[in-house]
Amino acid sequence: MTAEKYTVLISKEEIHRRVKELGKQLSSEYAGKEILLICTLKGAVIFASDLARSIKVPCEIGFVKAKSYSGDRSTGSVDISFEDLPDIKGRHIIIAEDIIDTGLTLKKLSEYFLAKEPASMKICAFLDKPSRRKADIKADYIGFEIEDHFVVGYGLDHNEKYRNLPFIAKLEL
Ligand code: IMP
Ligand code: MG
Repeated sequence: MTAEKYTVLISKEEIHRRVKELGKQLSSEYAGKEILLICTLKGAVIFASDLARSIKVPCEIGFVKAKSYSGDRSTGSVDISFEDLPDIKGRHIIIAEDIIDTGLTLKKLSEYFLAKEPASMKICAFLDKPSRRKADIKADYIGFEIEDHFVVGYGLDHNEKYRNLPFIAKLEL
């Protein structure tokens, strides 16, 4: 049952254009190297799979599960679990995140990965809500910067719904 209303904020076409651009940029900046793209589950799964397909250099994909939201609220504490994560040491890793809100998730993830001594580490976030930031963290690559709205679609959910929408929508709660 869908009780909430939503309005489209970023269209499917705009998303595809921007993700292709990001892939092109990464392909040229990582020319001659191999990328280990780490997708944060579940939200970044659609972004990371589109991004991976627009990257033209060799690219391994790994997954990490990070959970800090319940409904439309950040809980403030971040649960992270790792399963079958490839070796990080000496690799060029890019963390693919769906959205940076308070930044607490990425702060924790980046500290974890840096301790494993990658050759380099960059953050590629599909969306950025800079006005909500609590942790001192910045993405190296951003798809779109948005205002402080609760958004769904393209992998982002509200109580596990709407991840399959092909666009980004603002949810009216
Ligand atoms: P942070 O730790 O506060 O930066 O939260 C990041 C995580 O919260 C994201 O990876 C999302 O999974 C979730 N999140 C933050 N804002 C939104 C939103 O507007 N819609 C859906 N999920 C969100
Ligand atoms: Mg996420």
